[in-house]
Amino acid sequence: MQHPVLDSQLPPPPTFLAGIRRAPKRDLRLDRQDIELALCNALRYIPEQLHRTLAPEFLHELRTHGRIYGYRYRPAGRIQAKPIDAYQGRCLAGKALQLMIDNNLDFEIALYPYELVTYGETGQVFQNWMQYRLVKAYLEQLDDHHTLVLHSGHPLGLFPSRPDAPRVMTTNGLMVGLFDNPEDFHRAAAIGVANYGQMTAGGWMYIGPQGIVHGTYNTLVIAARQRLGVPVEGHLGGKLFVSSGLGGMSGAQGKAVEIAGAAGIIAEVDASRIETRRKQGWVSRVTTQAAVAFSWAAEAMAQKRGEAIAFHGNIVQLLDYAVQNRIAIDLLSDQTSCHAVYDGGYCPMQVDFEQRTALLAHDKVHFRSLVDATLQRHFKLIQELVARGTYFFDYGNSFMKAIYDTGETSIARNGRDTRDGFIWPSYVEDILGPELFDYGYGPFRWICLSGKSDDLRRTDRAAAEEIERLRPTLRYQDRDNLRWVQEAESYQLVVGSQARILYQDAEGRRVLARRFNKMVREGEVGPIMLGRDHHDTGGTDSPFRETANIKDGSNIMADMATQIFAGNAARGMTLVALHNGGGVGIGKSINGGFGLLLDGQEATDRIIDQALPWDVMGGVARRAWAGNPHSIETVAEYNHRSSGALTIPFVADRKLIAELVEKTDV
Ligand SMILES: NC(=O)c1ccc[n+]([C@@H]2O[C@H](COP(=O)([O-])OP(=O)(O)OC[C@H]3O[C@@H](n4cnc5c(N)ncnc54)[C@H](O)[C@@H]3O)[C@@H](O)[C@H]2O)c1
Repeated sequence: MQHPVLDSQLPPPPTFLAGIRRAPKRDLRLDRQDIELALCNALRYIPEQLHRTLAPEFLHELRTHGRIYGYRYRPAGRIQAKPIDAYQGRCLAGKALQLMIDNNLDFEIALYPYELVTYGETGQVFQNWMQYRLVKAYLEQLDDHHTLVLHSGHPLGLFPSRPDAPRVMTTNGLMVGLFDNPEDFHRAAAIGVANYGQMTAGGWMYIGPQGIVHGTYNTLVIAARQRLGVPVEGHLGGKLFVSSGLGGMSGAQGKAVEIAGAAGIIAEVDASRIETRRKQGWVSRVTTQAAVAFSWAAEAMAQKRGEAIAFHGNIVQLLDYAVQNRIAIDLLSDQTSCHAVYDGGYCPMQVDFEQRTALLAHDKVHFRSLVDATLQRHFKLIQELVARGTYFFDYGNSFMKAIYDTGETSIARNGRDTRDGFIWPSYVEDILGPELFDYGYGPFRWICLSGKSDDLRRTDRAAAEEIERLRPTLRYQDRDNLRWVQEAESYQLVVGSQARILYQDAEGRRVLARRFNKMVREGEVGPIMLGRDHHDTGGTDSPFRETANIKDGSNIMADMATQIFAGNAARGMTLVALHNGGGVGIGKSINGGFGLLLDGQEATDRIIDQALPWDVMGGVARRAWAGNPHSIETVAEYNHRSSGALTIPFVADRKLIAELVEKTDV
């Protein structure tokens, strides 16, 4: 078999549509030797006769953008997911995965589509457009007897394998421990050997901000039940949620708050992102005045109406106003991209968005000092609000870690280092971890590859039917999920492909997948891609986020995510992905995901039965071993009803141990 190569004809120079967001210049600290290396590395994709023309162009890209994107190799115009039949390929999976990639790069979906960034400021599908073209060619060539292997977006090639092996195996940004830090990663990315895949960006399973709306909604509703005394079947009318960010994932906050029935004010410095969310109807009113934002929120609260208000300005300015004017905030969070805090993820209050972009390109040192000063002010304002009764939770964006890194050690729980976490909980530690992940509930999703909204409607209905008969007495999580999927269509959440997010536990995911595969088999709907966010029960090891509620000290280990990835490959998932970084930054997490193509085959039923429960229960078992009570219950129940035998701990009496150690001289 011949490996695909790029055409020896030079593509036309790139054109950039006005109004499409562009990534800021990435940090570039390469010496001369590394610059030469970066150019040689990029030219490996290019037929030799074009090197003289492209070498200077690539050098210019490196100097002006901090990366070689190979803009010329981007297909002109809008890239978007087409119905699966419109793709070329020798197997259905090859076509389906092209569709998933295109969806991640859609102008309507991607944060910086020209720079291949899907979301999270730096989360890229590939490092450059040469990789995009080659992977597409490989996927057209892929058949059921080969596996395409990718290293950080680079297609290593098609390796002979077998029909029940993964069709694609991808890793992004995995570094050797000694070099697993942001500085070495930046160098590796600039010379073209590392991709920041975030989670579903490099894992090709992003479904637009809808993917996050359900999780954000769950977080708000559970936080209100836990902290504000809202009853389980109650409603958040009259409550106020304040946060920041209307970007890739953070953009979900407006929609989620409205669905939950609360008033929400979301600060955002970038007018273009506000406009995107306003056009989608995910925020309903926009103002540059903090006073106006709070008065609109007060009106909505008085009428117990859900309303999402965008405040065009810095979150610190908004909170300053609340503190000065003694405005009560019920729930408070932050979703700036603090995992990339000095790369443009967090805008200092002294500058506006445009000035921030210029400063980033020209004076990184000054930019950094402004970021630090703003984070410190942000911290003080939250301390004041919390003292007045606000419930603040970190939204897994490394916000508290970023404050700690400015030298504010008082944000660390032990006042010294981050080993014991921080003074405030992360949303996973108090909310999603114990209430959802520990049971196995996580962000299951599916994409109707026909592109037909009818297929999505049918699967929504089928999912609701299956949840209703999932267990004799539905848990409150099941009732929340049932309501979500029954109402999902009315929320108009689809952006890009016809996809649905629906939190489910191990058995729920298996049952739904079986039903969908049957529907495909019987021609009721076209083929479906199943997947999930990496941000899940077992998908991610990340002490500051997904594994923040692991308290046996194993939160610094990455065995779980790695094993889930390997086990998913062994059980025949269509795509398996393992990444470094994710939403919290390089060196702070290992996370993995999968894609499973439902083609209606009976063989796929077997993969569903083996792989989906493994994908979830591998995580629940680890959580049980860490002593998390809901996971222990879930594992005991699983041992009872399945052929698995998972280890359950004997939980020591902490009081007895503390007394013993106190009495003994250690
Ligand atoms: N939503 C979730 O479920 C979820 C889960 C885990 C982690 N996160 C984290 O949340 C962060 C945001 O993700 P994203 O995909 O939305 O990133 P993003 O970069 O697309 O959006 C962040 C937004 O914050 C804005 N911003 C930056 N500084 C600001 C400031 N000082 N005041 C007001 N606005 C400011 C930016 O302009 C940007 O639009 C990431 O770190 C991500 O990992 C989100």
